Amino acid sequence: MRLSSQVALITGAASGIARAVAIRFAQEGATVMAADANECGGSETVDLVHAFGGKAQFACLDVSQPEQVRQVVQRTIDELGDLHILFNGAGILAYGTVLETTEDAWNRMMAVNLTGTFLCSKAALTHMVVKGHGVIINVASTTGSHDACAHAAAYVTTKGGVTLLTRSMAIDYAKQGIRVNAICPGPTDTPMLRNALTLKELEAFARTLPMGRLGQPEEIAGAALFLASEDASFVTGAVLYVDGGQTAEV
Ligand SMILES: NC(=O)c1ccc[n+]([C@@H]2O[C@H](COP(=O)([O-])OP(=O)(O)OC[C@H]3O[C@@H](n4cnc5c(N)ncnc54)[C@H](O)[C@@H]3O)[C@@H](O)[C@H]2O)c1
Repeated sequence: MRLSSQVALITGAASGIARAVAIRFAQEGATVMAADANECGGSETVDLVHAFGGKAQFACLDVSQPEQVRQVVQRTIDELGDLHILFNGAGILAYGTVLETTEDAWNRMMAVNLTGTFLCSKAALTHMVVKGHGVIINVASTTGSHDACAHAAAYVTTKGGVTLLTRSMAIDYAKQGIRVNAICPGPTDTPMLRNALTLKELEAFARTLPMGRLGQPEEIAGAALFLASEDASFVTGAVLYVDGGQTAEV
């Protein structure tokens, strides 16, 4: 029970990586506010947590909407008693070069992936600074943090931004007892990736990786647990690649 008596707000918790994080954190004793724009998937995550006796609630949230973000953070504190950990897992992916990316698509990607991370962190920090403790874990990506990739101009730009926002917040709030780190997953088997690529493309992609396979959401959750726990008490500003060796050879 590495997170007993901790309260965690997890965005994007209806699916993929953040769902696995919600389950793992709850298994380790945390009380979880599972927030997502997808009500159906979010409720499923809560049911999965309740099934093993864990503690979780669902909050409907579009991370790009400042007022909704403030309300969900306040609700977490009011109903769950505190806010120790924020996991910024909500994200979207669309491919395209600059010429292929419409202004609307660009703006939406920025609003969810980058501004969403900023807004949730800002609302959580307001509380964490007063309390003198807190952990924020952002989700960047190998793509956009370590390197760029073709045909993903908006996505890689948001992830590069998340990486630098992580470092910036880590420096600014270190003396106030708040640790801020980023995880950069490599290709991970989630609905996001399965919607973006065909099965054949996924299998071919997996074969190019040093481990020869995709990551599983639970393997990203294991890294998130480390960063959330006291084992990472001297870790802040880190950009942790959890990628089966992908970035080792780029
Ligand atoms: N899967 C990968 O290979 C991979 C690799 C690197 C980074 N990532 C990042 O990991 C994070 C999670 O991705 P995933 O693969 O689990 O994807 P996913 O699509 O399975 O889950 C993303 C979740 O975010 C939610 N979401 C989207 N827009 C939202 C909004 N405006 N407000 C609230 N919730 C919203 C979705 O409803 C969904 O539940 C993303 O930031 C993604 O960019 C994923």
